[in-house]
Amino acid sequence: MASVSLFSFFLISLFIPRYTAMAMEASPSSSTSTNSTAYIRTCCARTLYARLCYATLSPYSPRVQVNNPAQLARFAMNATLARLAPISARIAVLRSRAAADSASYPDHRQANALKDCKGSISSATDLIRNSEKEMNGLEEMVGPEVTWRIGNAQTWLSAAMTEEETCTDGFEGGRSGGDAGVEVCRKVKKVKQLTSNALALVNGLVNY
Ligand SMILES: *[C@@H]1O[C@H](CO)[C@@H](O)[C@H](O)[C@H]1NC(C)=O
Ligand SMILES: *[C@@H]1O[C@H](CO)[C@@H](O)[C@H](O)[C@H]1NC(C)=O
Repeated sequence: MASVSLFSFFLISLFIPRYTAMAMEASPSSSTSTNSTAYIRTCCARTLYARLCYATLSPYSPRVQVNNPAQLARFAMNATLARLAPISARIAVLRSRAAADSASYPDHRQANALKDCKGSISSATDLIRNSEKEMNGLEEMVGPEVTWRIGNAQTWLSAAMTEEETCTDGFEGGRSGGDAGVEVCRKVKKVKQLTSNALALVNGLVNY
């Protein structure tokens, strides 16, 4: 009980200064940059994969503005996109390998799953890019525009997670498609966790 109320106090003490921090935004102090890691940790605590969230966002800490949750959500999307790009390239390699080795999969299941996954990853990339755009300049907006953009970002990110799941389903979660299936599923599952974290950070903007 004591730890719960201490934690609540910690949260409240982090959020109350938001408004004063915004007013003084013009002069970001060194303490602000020092505490951006603490801010990242607090925001990440509300995600499903908190440790992954922190590990992903801490490299952004020199640029993270404390009490700017829209910026943090945008960074989470940037990191997700950075993780997606090499997967597309890797799938292209695995596809040509599958084509050369069609004797191992005469039913073309592996090749088909790789082809479908390429499409899913490409759609997920577009959807996350769209939601990243919705976050642009959100800090300066007020009223219904903010709600509209947050709602769009939530829609795009949920759809991206569905695309990622479609990819892994094509390999039955890694149980089919051989080594390629195992590798693609491992990578895509990680990206899905990153997408989930980005969505959780966007969900946190609703009360913003
Ligand atoms: C930053 O926050 C931590 C606690 O989260 C605190 O210990 C530290 O003193 C702060 N640093 C500065 C420079 O304010
Ligand atoms: C992430 O953001 C940086 C700028 O902050 C940009 O240069 C980079 O291309 C972005 N990465 C992706 C994958 O969108």
